[in-house]
Amino acid sequence: MCGIIGYIGDRKACDVIVSGLKRLEYRGYDSVGVVTENGGTLHIRKGAGKIGELEKKLGLSELPGTRGIGHTRWATHGIPDDTNAHPHTDCTGRIALVHNGIIENYLELKEELLKRGHIFKSDTDTEVIAHLIEEELKTAANFEEALRRALNRLKGSFALGIIYSGDGEHLYFVRNESPLVLGIGKGEMFAASDVPAFLPYTNRAVFIDDGEYVILSKEGYIVKDFRTGEVREKDVHTIEWSLKMAEKQGYPHFMLKEIHEQPKAVKEAIYGNAEGIADIAEEIAGYDKIFIVAMGTSYHAAIAGKYLFQRLARKVPVVEEASEFRYEAEGLLDENTLVIAITQSGETADTLAAIKLAKRNGAKTLSIVNVVGSMATRISDLVLYTHAGPEIGVAATKTYTTQLTVLAMLAIALARHLGTADEQLLNALEKRLYELPDLIAEALKHEENLKELAEALRDRKDFFYIGRGISVATALEGALKLKEISYIHAEGLSAGELKHGPLALIEDSVPVVAVAPSGRTFDKIVSNIEEAKARKGFIISLGDNDELMKISDVFIRMPEVDELLSPILYVVPLQLLAYHLAVLRGNDPDKPRNLAKSVTVE
Ligand code: G6P
Repeated sequence: MCGIIGYIGDRKACDVIVSGLKRLEYRGYDSVGVVTENGGTLHIRKGAGKIGELEKKLGLSELPGTRGIGHTRWATHGIPDDTNAHPHTDCTGRIALVHNGIIENYLELKEELLKRGHIFKSDTDTEVIAHLIEEELKTAANFEEALRRALNRLKGSFALGIIYSGDGEHLYFVRNESPLVLGIGKGEMFAASDVPAFLPYTNRAVFIDDGEYVILSKEGYIVKDFRTGEVREKDVHTIEWSLKMAEKQGYPHFMLKEIHEQPKAVKEAIYGNAEGIADIAEEIAGYDKIFIVAMGTSYHAAIAGKYLFQRLARKVPVVEEASEFRYEAEGLLDENTLVIAITQSGETADTLAAIKLAKRNGAKTLSIVNVVGSMATRISDLVLYTHAGPEIGVAATKTYTTQLTVLAMLAIALARHLGTADEQLLNALEKRLYELPDLIAEALKHEENLKELAEALRDRKDFFYIGRGISVATALEGALKLKEISYIHAEGLSAGELKHGPLALIEDSVPVVAVAPSGRTFDKIVSNIEEAKARKGFIISLGDNDELMKISDVFIRMPEVDELLSPILYVVPLQLLAYHLAVLRGNDPDKPRNLAKSVTVE
């Protein structure tokens, strides 16, 4: 959803900006642009394409000056071409800005500005902001006042970086419903959509909240409320993530590195939450009306969470996509409601809207989040971190398995507190949970086989993923991974649904991936596999029962694990299969077309 970065200090600004944009590329990669200022002149270079291609072509690293801003785009308004690439400027060329978000009232503002004689160069919503500030500057006492006046006319979501050639000392940044964080250096300051952008230079960060703007200078920062003009005091956080964690470390793609990091990530999730989880369980134990809301992969974790809560804690949460919940739940929420939000980034627009709606209605909110200090963590009553470390690949992998780990821990703690499950069962589950990192390492050993399988299946057009019980979540997630990065059509569904429609699509050699751990419904999924086999489907099964070998074209033997913990393990081969199919088909799995990691617009 676009990445922005800004630098002011003594270094060559373009170097800091270009390297930061490379680390922000997961947010969007349609086009790139940089502006620096030197001796009162703005130097702008921008174009359609990825930073790797454009860095040399546009000479981004030749821009002079020690102050500047940059942008990597995921197009919302206007096709991704050179003209629509950010930064955008006003008519005088003295104001340049970059934007992450959507200006909802831009048409109305544009009309007004056109009438006043402004000339627009792009089709973007962003450009109106530059002209609006220019217009306000005609009557305002100074740039800051013009900026504030303009901001108060904008509707929508926006994180902005602004440079004004008439002010050689500062950069300006704004946050409203799109992420923005400051990096605090010594004699230099940074601002960006996300921490990894400036992690090589500083790990001291200030998270900006909605409705705030920042005046950034070499020596420091002032944060103000753009509605009232009041100065806001901000806490400085120390970020535990290291730069190394945000680099590929010899892997060809971030996604592959993150898949392989799962044993460690799950271990961190377990140890990072072992102490606090009982207290959180106690706090939420009294709620019987529970919603779990999320989007994308996090939504699949929510589905698994429902099974965990049902089986162990005897609670039946309503699982809903945050984008639906936000428009459906008004009138259904009160102080007896618990809303659990799951979000890797803590910045997904729909999920944040869902949390805000819950809060407005007096509900208790608990967020399960990966990014420390993100918006979801700041607006929720309770927070559990997944401790997965930075995830750069657009397709979520280690953050999913750590979300599942946290949900399993929460359900176990809740069941223990409520006495809803046999203590022996809970102890056994807990013991197995601690063994999961080793079991995941074991599952990763299938990589070579999965690569061969990917070779055999590279030209297939449709895949079906089936599962029962908690494995429905794995089926959905396996299908999503495949769609996202290999661009092969895939459907994930509960195996019981197969006969009610999708079976009509199973014909000779259509791959059917059956997620079949031993458990309550094992026999049932065996029947579903037979049904697909009878239609000549190509059966790939994952499980720990040898019976599967006899009825499958390909059998992926998984370590034995309790069904309730199986999603943490069984998704791993599916991630690898999707990854290798994507690579074989010539796609970049880290940057799938049309997608972005953080969907910070609705
Ligand atoms: C995007 C990403 C997905 C992610 C989803 C929800 O679609 O590409 O990987 O699962 O957003 O993001 P969140 O940060 O809220 O988990």
